[in-house]
Amino acid sequence: MSLKCATQLGIPDIIHRHGKPITLPELVDALPINKARAHGVYRLMRILTHSGFFILENISGDDEKKGYWLTTSSRLLIQDEPFGVAPLVLAVLDPIFTKPWHHLSEWFQNENPTPFDTAHGKMLWEYTGQDPRLNHFFSEAMASDTKLVTSVLIRECKQVFEGLNSILDVGGGTGTMCMAISDAFPNLKCIVLDLPHVVACSKGTKNLSYVAGDMFEHIPPADAIILKWVLHDWSDDEGVKILKKCKDAISGNYKGKVIIIDMIVDDGKVDDKATETQLFFDMDMMVHVAGRERNEKEWAKLFYEAGFTYYKITHVLGLRTSISSEFHCPIMDKLSGFPIISLSYGIPELRFHLIYICNASNFGWEECSFC
Ligand SMILES: C[S@@+](CC[C@H](N)C(=O)[O-])C[C@H]1O[C@@H](n2cnc3c(N)ncnc32)[C@H](O)[C@@H]1O
Repeated sequence: MSLKCATQLGIPDIIHRHGKPITLPELVDALPINKARAHGVYRLMRILTHSGFFILENISGDDEKKGYWLTTSSRLLIQDEPFGVAPLVLAVLDPIFTKPWHHLSEWFQNENPTPFDTAHGKMLWEYTGQDPRLNHFFSEAMASDTKLVTSVLIRECKQVFEGLNSILDVGGGTGTMCMAISDAFPNLKCIVLDLPHVVACSKGTKNLSYVAGDMFEHIPPADAIILKWVLHDWSDDEGVKILKKCKDAISGNYKGKVIIIDMIVDDGKVDDKATETQLFFDMDMMVHVAGRERNEKEWAKLFYEAGFTYYKITHVLGLRTSISSEFHCPIMDKLSGFPIISLSYGIPELRFHLIYICNASNFGWEECSFC
């Protein structure tokens, strides 16, 4: 909540515009607050500095004077930062998403599908369809996250798109990923499938179109299907249903592949901080959508049950790539073109993976461990 407050007050932007470490009085002066509350600014900055969102630095030429400066994490909260995730931070801390946590113990004792449903009397996707404010800020939050992932995909994993004529982003929100892909690959036909209220105001272009629909009913055919942050929203049974629909949509197409961008829980194999974030995300899925984060075995089971026979997971980015530095691809050369995106954002520390699955061996993909 301290972070939410700092984001809402625009503290990262104020420091960024200041261009050098900002002293407490300068910060108080720049803030749109009741100046009688200035004492609270020190306390707010103290906890956020302690948690690594800001850093106290010497002001050049004055060893005595210190000012607050941005860290990798708080840079992500600057409004016009291209990979900024302020909308995501504000969304997860909105009362619509924090209230269900207060109903977690109640949910353990009732029959409701999710604590979200216990708190609000409806499931998340029903609620987004009924409340334009939620629909808007949720889509914005997803889009802010997707901008980063897409930029990595396009810059570092061009081979993902090679040889494709069409690509379909299932549950693609307002189309952030497809917009970027369609710009970068003008000959590639890009399609976004999402619920009617999500895509209602989205406008297509020459090589980008929107389909309003239900992925459990029908997924239009395409050479490749992207599922980003979709399967973790659903139970295993529902995940298998979605994957079966994807399989139908790419079947008959020898190039057909499904590209999943999601998290792979490492079961403690990575550092504590990253594991903690993954486990928090898993709880988040349980609280809001009856979904889950999965380890590799659990993913493999899903693919197998959906009828896929091959999958490949490979690292593209270093495990802890910082958002503020240039992305680099240190182990790309060792790969056969099947990347996992695995990166950390700082806030929260996320790890994303890209998994390819297909139903044909003529790609020369190595057989996966579960086969
Ligand atoms: C967690 S969001 C991810 C959005 C997008 N892929 C991204 O990462 O930015 C899940 C998306 O699935 C969509 N969705 C939920 N149920 C759906 C359904 N039955 N058919 C199609 N899309 C659905 C939601 O509207 C939402 O846009």
